[in-house]
Amino acid sequence: MIASATPQLPKLNAFNQVQRVIAVMSGKGGVGKSSLTALLAVELTRRGWKTGILDADLTGPSIPHFFGLPAGGLRGSEQGILPATTRQGIRVVSTNLLLPEADQPVIWRGALISATIQQFWTQVLWGKLDVLLVDLPPGTSDAALTVLRTLPVNGVVLVTAPQGLSALVVRKAVHMLQTLHIPILGVVENYSYFRCPADGGEYAVFGASHAPEICEAAGAPLLARLPIDPQWCERCDSGRAEEVHLPELSAVVERIQQVEAVRTPPRPV
Ligand SMILES: Nc1ncnc2c1ncn2[C@@H]1O[C@H](COP(=O)(O)OP(=O)(O)OP(=O)(O)O)[C@@H](O)[C@H]1O
Ligand SMILES: [Mg+2]
Repeated sequence: MIASATPQLPKLNAFNQVQRVIAVMSGKGGVGKSSLTALLAVELTRRGWKTGILDADLTGPSIPHFFGLPAGGLRGSEQGILPATTRQGIRVVSTNLLLPEADQPVIWRGALISATIQQFWTQVLWGKLDVLLVDLPPGTSDAALTVLRTLPVNGVVLVTAPQGLSALVVRKAVHMLQTLHIPILGVVENYSYFRCPADGGEYAVFGASHAPEICEAAGAPLLARLPIDPQWCERCDSGRAEEVHLPELSAVVERIQQVEAVRTPPRPV
């Protein structure tokens, strides 16, 4: 069930030319959405794409942390808010860049969350971007709904994990996207296996995959099965996401690059 009337699509700041908006979503918490968003941005940038990340997880932001961007890193200008920039040149906007200290909590109600997400779209000088990735918080409530209904999202990368509970919650996200008529570009299963350095064997630590049933429900292909990777965790959590190389992401990156550079109109619900 999706509440409220059809919203107006907020006007893109006159200085901006954002070619594609791609959201990374799961419904389920902790499946690796934010770090995957960061790593996709890194890989797209390596391939020469101008990339931005809108961190729509306003109360649990983690994107600046993965790039080592300090709190207070956003600047204002006459025309709007200037994003922070990573070493590679990825433009990032996140509530954690607004706070004086990264560990200060953001305790906001839904209306303020929705208004801020819209501001991150309308009042930020994103400039020319080939793609803006949007990192969604877990769940299918305010923040996700605001992004999916008021930003011109061209497609969603759906993240899941092998646990049965993930499959159930991710199917809720699938239904939400189908109700909103937003294309699901593909499914990424994270934590699929651990490759043992001693014998090279692959171990399904979290059990058998539920990806085929999610792909069937979503009508979308499985684009990647990602291993539990200590290097991923260690580098992302120490602000060095730009040093991670994950060849398993190439099909996801290529799928994003295939999305036509056209902004879609607001969708009727
Ligand atoms: N495949 C992986 N191997 C090792 N560590 C991982 C992997 N995927 C994610 N992590 C780590 O797990 C933690 C949680 O990941 P992340 O923050 O990306 O999840 P999330 O889905 O965005 O969580 P939330 O729902 O709270 O927003 C991070 O420390 C991240 O570095
Ligand atoms: Mg997250």
